[in-house]
Amino acid sequence: KRKIRIGILGFGTVGQGVWKHIKEDRAALERRLGVKLELVRAAVSDLSKKRGVKLAKSKLTDDPYAIVDDPKIDIVCELIGGTKLARKLTLRALANGKTVVTANKALICEHGDELFTAARKEGVHYFFEASVAGGIPIIKTLREGLVANRFPLIYGILNGTSNYILTRMEREGLSFEEIVGDARDLGYVEADESLDLDGWDAAHKAVILAYLAHGKWVNLDEMLVEGIRNITARDVAYASELGYKIKLLAVIARNFNDETLSVRLHPALIKKGEIMAQVDMVFNGVSLTGDVVGTTLLVGRGAGQDATASAVISDIADAVHAIQGAPGPLISEEDEDIYRQLGEGLTLA
Ligand code: NDP
Ligand code: HSE
Repeated sequence: KRKIRIGILGFGTVGQGVWKHIKEDRAALERRLGVKLELVRAAVSDLSKKRGVKLAKSKLTDDPYAIVDDPKIDIVCELIGGTKLARKLTLRALANGKTVVTANKALICEHGDELFTAARKEGVHYFFEASVAGGIPIIKTLREGLVANRFPLIYGILNGTSNYILTRMEREGLSFEEIVGDARDLGYVEADESLDLDGWDAAHKAVILAYLAHGKWVNLDEMLVEGIRNITARDVAYASELGYKIKLLAVIARNFNDETLSVRLHPALIKKGEIMAQVDMVFNGVSLTGDVVGTTLLVGRGAGQDATASAVISDIADAVHAIQGAPGPLISEEDEDIYRQLGEGLTLA
């Protein structure tokens, strides 16, 4: 069997989760993919840190370039986070002909255009399933399962941390400040907390979905972005008395008559009887209204080690298929043309 060699940039919450789950079910995964999987090396910033998932010392490095420049490595998983170093490493890995998998929504939102172009130029694949809605296969659903559709409306809960905090505020009558510490302890909150608490993380995800559905990269400064930091226990209680829950919603609405697109992220009231209002705790929910299929709702774990690892491993599986000669680059030239056409003449509402 061919050996596929993996390098992981970042052995934190997600990186460790990915390797833990590959190891746990390795024989079945390898049988399914028809290859052997080897973790060559993982990059971290602090070699002395204790980690829940054990890895031989020789496999840890604090030099991420030792991974992206290693000619033996086939697949690079970028799980470092942030945009500056992650962008550099991704461009270098792609230029070195590696297939890259990422969970980094900030990176795709800010540099997706450049990175997709680079991947296409090098004729390699760049996969990003875990970048939106954690374990929910939303990228594959949009690009593959619902490919026959145009989407007047996509909306949903795309940030697990905010939803966890709002749910507990509603259930326990507590304030934002009283719950945020638990969300940190559970590993939900990003290292840069503002991403979760001020709405930027969900806004990044909305930008990615808007591109995949409408072929238009929306700048964050063109969007309304408001997180949950200013929601008080009293707001939540009043909403509840009136029969509503407060949820942080991403809304991507396209009017096909006047060709306008609205992409926004803000707290909203949802009637308690609605399915989306039942999406609680760290779960995410995405409602997709397509002109052919009607409305499809996906609900699942939107954050955390296991759910995210599940999505990253699905990309590793796609990467293995791609390396073995299955379909062309994920965002191929044909895709790019289709996206260009989709976005032509579209203005932001
Ligand atoms: P962590 O902070 O837990 O892990 C980041 C890892 O990167 C750590 O191992 C860290 O090293 C390493 N690292 C950081 N800087 C460097 C550097 N300069 N050189 C080498 N290694 C470095 O983050 P997560 O695992 O939570 O997130 C990773 C990515 O996944 C992010 O893009 C995030 O947005 C995304 N994501 C996270 C989800 C979650 O639920 N956590 C869900 C979906 C996506 P060290 O361990 O030594 O500090
Ligand atoms: N911090 C993110 C969230 C992780 O809470 O949804 C998943 O992308």
